Amino acid sequence: MHDTTAVAARKLATGQVVSARYEALHRRFPTVAYLRQHARRRVPHFAFEYMDGGAGADGGIARNWSSLDAVELVPRYGVTTGLPPVDVELFGRRYAAPLGIAPMGGPAIAWPGADEYLAAAAQAARVPYALSTVAGISIERAAALAPDVFWFQLYRFAKDEHKVGFDLVRRADAAGAHVLMLTLDVPVRTTRSREVAGGIVYPFRITPRMAAGVATSPGYLRSLLKHGITRFACLSPYAGEGAGVNAMAAFMQGEQRGAFTWEEVARFRDRWKRPLVVKGILHPSDAEKAVGLGVDGLVVSNHGGRQVEGLPAAIDALPAVAAAVGKRATVMMDSGIRSGLDVVRAIALGAEAAFAGKAFLWGVGALGAHGPGHVIDIMVDEMRSALGQIGARTLTDARSVVIRHPGALNFQSNM
Ligand SMILES: Cc1cc2nc3c(=O)[nH]c(=O)nc-3n(C[C@H](O)[C@H](O)[C@H](O)COP(=O)(O)O)c2cc1C
Repeated sequence: MHDTTAVAARKLATGQVVSARYEALHRRFPTVAYLRQHARRRVPHFAFEYMDGGAGADGGIARNWSSLDAVELVPRYGVTTGLPPVDVELFGRRYAAPLGIAPMGGPAIAWPGADEYLAAAAQAARVPYALSTVAGISIERAAALAPDVFWFQLYRFAKDEHKVGFDLVRRADAAGAHVLMLTLDVPVRTTRSREVAGGIVYPFRITPRMAAGVATSPGYLRSLLKHGITRFACLSPYAGEGAGVNAMAAFMQGEQRGAFTWEEVARFRDRWKRPLVVKGILHPSDAEKAVGLGVDGLVVSNHGGRQVEGLPAAIDALPAVAAAVGKRATVMMDSGIRSGLDVVRAIALGAEAAFAGKAFLWGVGALGAHGPGHVIDIMVDEMRSALGQIGARTLTDARSVVIRHPGALNFQSNM
């Protein structure tokens, strides 16, 4: 488990070793849902709306959740009495669990200092950590905090022959990022209504309501005083070192357009010699296209319901994409993961690993520095229980159980 060396550990009757900190936190926050509830009370309103809201009326988020909830795994008993291991190999590197921290822009809006906390927790627990192009720490800082688990996500900066994009990739390479993740699913800008109504708009200004929210959230205020206002640190070399939030937003509006075309994916494939992943696949034909271009992996995702709420749930597209790809590339998924059971559902339906976004921000909003580690601990615990319960001795055994998946998409008719 995460952090077992740093604090006193105890062996349970099940043979599982848990840290004293995990036990104490687990009593108050036994699931990610408790962290979400606590984060809502502990952070200013705008911060919660930023981390929690989706496109439109949150219909995409609701669909991700209900589609995952609807997946049933039929157990087989008499097979195992233990908790199976969950370590996994991804792109030639071993991780403690098939669970990664999804790339997120502006996590420090959710909780000042969140970028550092996420990176450090992933390194301590040895799970993948994907730094977003629009995160609050630089590529070099992320690599220093999470040297063994560092992946880098890139948005499209196509101006002047991809000058900024190619330079970001050069830096990621120099810093030792293990995987480059190209996000494909933001071809247009869309509106997240709760975020807008909460005051996260361009041009940005701190409204009296926001200031009052910070003033009445003592933990958040303390962390803000310690870490300062977030900066888009990966991009500051291009927008000007001292660029504030508005200067950076203006830079982004001028430089960051749409999402990568397949022709551009091919160019990045040529440049990047380590594992390349595309993120945001929902159609087997797009997966096919990516594999044909030589990508090593893909993330089935609807961007956590944050783009347009009429997209299918990622879990519903997963089996068809996994079947189309087979063993030619590593299929992963995100969007809606709130528990270790959800991760097991994704594995059972063909993913090698799953990523979570919002769950980690709820964790950091509820518990600051200890939040992301607790989310990992909870989910690892839940993964092992879910596997043991269905009679799986390994992660891949989960694929042998009978599964009811009412939302599974069938692409045969219109592929
Ligand atoms: C606050 C926030 C910011 C995000 N920023 C990015 C980003 O910069 N790049 C990206 O590829 N995805 C971004 N995402 C999407 C996540 O990488 C991931 O696809 C999504 O959060 C998964 O769904 P979940 O939140 O239900 O776990 C963001 C998500 C959130 C919640």
